[in-house]
Amino acid sequence: MTQPAILVARAVFPETIAFLQQHFDVTHNQADEVWSRAELLQRLQGKVGVLTTGSERIDAELLAACPGLKLCANMAVGFNNFDVPAMTARGVLGTNTPDVLTETTADFGFALLMATARRIAESEHFLRAGKWNKWAIDMFAGAEVHGSTLGILGMGRIGQGIARRGAHGFGMNVIYHNRSRLSPALEAECKARYVAKDELLASADHLVLVLPYSAESHHAMGAAELAKMKPTATLVNIARGGIVDDAALARALQAKQIAAAGLDVFEGEPKVHPDLLACSNVVLTPHIASATVPTRRAMAQLAADNLVGYLVHGKPLTPLNPEVLKKK
Ligand code: DGY
Repeated sequence: MTQPAILVARAVFPETIAFLQQHFDVTHNQADEVWSRAELLQRLQGKVGVLTTGSERIDAELLAACPGLKLCANMAVGFNNFDVPAMTARGVLGTNTPDVLTETTADFGFALLMATARRIAESEHFLRAGKWNKWAIDMFAGAEVHGSTLGILGMGRIGQGIARRGAHGFGMNVIYHNRSRLSPALEAECKARYVAKDELLASADHLVLVLPYSAESHHAMGAAELAKMKPTATLVNIARGGIVDDAALARALQAKQIAAAGLDVFEGEPKVHPDLLACSNVVLTPHIASATVPTRRAMAQLAADNLVGYLVHGKPLTPLNPEVLKKK
């Protein structure tokens, strides 16, 4: 019996491919080549499913060119690379990988906050450059973390993980802003207080962005918002490029309008705004917040389980547009 054909758009773990091959005719990209859009469209011909990694844009044009496609399984919790309404309109299901990366990503958010506040990258570069020849009282003196005010913009699962780390581990005063307020029980668990966005910006010593990217959150942190922050504050973005106006942030960092930033995501990544590269008071990492081996394995397995769950058994694990299931 011929098996349904699927595409795995980027290199994944060999065991993920072996698992998928038990159920599908798999075309993969274990060489991890960078495919153009035209190459992706061509490789999707005749496929019923695709495992994407967040970089492949699934939109109306692609769906029209690939009419056999039934499922796009994103190996990421964020799915701003999916045009979900266009997928729903065509009866194409989307899935993502929530939960399995929450704690790992919250760990990284906190690590980036600490590296930014305590100037770890900047001081390491200084040492490696052979510039350390004496002790000085203010050498790389940074911002206090324990006991300071932690602001969180976007209070989903990862935001809550960061809040718990700050409140329980570092005795921080946690405030947050979100589209919807947490339940009193969750607020108590996270020791977090809901505030208006302006109060968040003005009060946070360390502000962490963990909100999903959408047209609504585009440049949620632009020049006007940065101007509302304390000059001693730090800003961390582990959410998505485009939430911060990178050019405005570079200007704010150069002008010392805020003290420092830690960025794991960028507008137009993997390109990074040249003005950010020129700033010493910013820690830059290449979108690795979920990158531990166990978590990446769990993400790949969940994406693969969604492909098998839906295309073989009709039951996806983490559907983004479950209304497609009702229409079937
Ligand atoms: C996610 O899961 O959305 C991450 O950004 C991908 O690593």
